[in-house]
Amino acid sequence: MTAYKSSVRVIGVPEHLNQFVEEVKEDHALIDALAPLKAQQLVSSKLGDVREAALFINDQWCKVVTVGLGNVKKRTEGDYLKIWGNVFQYLKQHAIDSISLYMPTFFSKTVEIEKVFNIMGLQQEQAIYTFDSYKSDKKAPYRIHIQLEPKTWANYESVMLDGRHLGHAINFARDLGNMPPNILTPEYFATLVDERFKTTNVTVDIKDGTMIQQEGFGLLHAVGKGSSHAPRLITLEYKGNPNHQDQTIALVGKGITYDSGGYSIKSKNGMPTMKFDMCGAANVVGMIDAIQALQLKVNVVGVIAAAENMIAPHAMKPDDVFTALSGETVEVPNTDAEGRLVLADASYYANQYQPALIMDFATLTGAAIVALGVDKTAVFNKGVSTHILDDILTQTRIWGEPTFELPITATERKQIKKSDVADLTNHVNADGKALFAAAFITHFSGETPHLHFDIAGPATTSKASYKGPKGATGVMISTIVHYLKHTYGKVTEL
Ligand code: BES
Ligand code: ZN
Ligand code: ZN
Repeated sequence: MTAYKSSVRVIGVPEHLNQFVEEVKEDHALIDALAPLKAQQLVSSKLGDVREAALFINDQWCKVVTVGLGNVKKRTEGDYLKIWGNVFQYLKQHAIDSISLYMPTFFSKTVEIEKVFNIMGLQQEQAIYTFDSYKSDKKAPYRIHIQLEPKTWANYESVMLDGRHLGHAINFARDLGNMPPNILTPEYFATLVDERFKTTNVTVDIKDGTMIQQEGFGLLHAVGKGSSHAPRLITLEYKGNPNHQDQTIALVGKGITYDSGGYSIKSKNGMPTMKFDMCGAANVVGMIDAIQALQLKVNVVGVIAAAENMIAPHAMKPDDVFTALSGETVEVPNTDAEGRLVLADASYYANQYQPALIMDFATLTGAAIVALGVDKTAVFNKGVSTHILDDILTQTRIWGEPTFELPITATERKQIKKSDVADLTNHVNADGKALFAAAFITHFSGETPHLHFDIAGPATTSKASYKGPKGATGVMISTIVHYLKHTYGKVTEL
């Protein structure tokens, strides 16, 4: 029988107590104390249901927090996200800052033990995230002391820590996303990214507005020139596998710190929330932050195009034509289709690093939300082998980041060339707007395999959940980091 601690003990409760692993079944004192409470429904076995109870064990009362584990035979990683998320949110709400976790009660045959610990670490950070930097009554950061029980499970603390690194990175991306746009300008975005990676082995290169213009980033310059806050191009490099430079993966992010629409102005209802138009970029920063914290054996280059889409005498206007970094000319009938412009230059630039694969992340189109709903990511594939996309889609299912493929067809590839005056156009009046945008962006990555993720919906949420509060979500960070973590051994196949 394990000794009970003075702090609160946290226990998982399956549908039937005989579904516990053997180790717990032999803990007769616990089973005997738990059984009547379960029968009276004072503790619940419903997935993610958290209760507080007092157990009478070995002649003394012991305060416990229980969490329902649901159907033990079908338990998935997603269930553990809910289990741990609800536990840590409950503990925070009730200001419980010291617990002993009776780990064996949480094990199942369907999910590896490492994953159970890893997700616990992730949820210790991500589930209890709050953003109150701009509130007068800020809460002190919540810290929890966890003792693993029995102590032998301490071996898994490093796996738990890996999860915490990921959660920490997600929370950083959320902070960037949630910051007000008068503060998070392209310049300050670059400063924060620079500071974040100062003490790491990620190198940060920042091009300011003048360099962007002089070096020919004509589309990024065009989008940013209506703002008093000049654009920035931020390049992050992490070399975790220096012997395989040819296996670099490029992560490109849309960093529009505010999207007013420009002269193709948004409506008064469409404009608020457009501070989140840099979440693609923020999430790329989060991915690289996690990759370096976990020291993954993979080479990554991150390219972030940060700009503010505003109205001013010198702002771009509908009908303007600009020259892209690729040398091609682009007509801009619609200044609100600015994301594809900055991503075109960023993707072309990323391609100079000769990556094996480019992935871009962008809050790109309302059309992606119309097609799939607010909670789903649309992924578009240009030349990436299906086994890579399948591996990524598998991770999206594990981490609860639902993603579905939409096509790029010959129709869109033709449409992007329908300009009377220039080589390309950023907009045509036709349905299939998410597909058109995908065709436009991927045009600039040449022959390089390219996945484009339109995260317009899931970049934010209007509803709190076991993953965290409303606001920026950090979507796709878990998926991509785990994809890279599980694939680096096979990168030669890219
Ligand atoms: N940032 C928006 C897309 C967006 C809309 C993101 C809603 C999140 C929620 C993007 O720059 C935009 O304005 N897209 C236009 C494109 C259109 C002009 C072709 C859109 O989707 O309406
Ligand atoms: Zn726009
Ligand atoms: Zn936008």
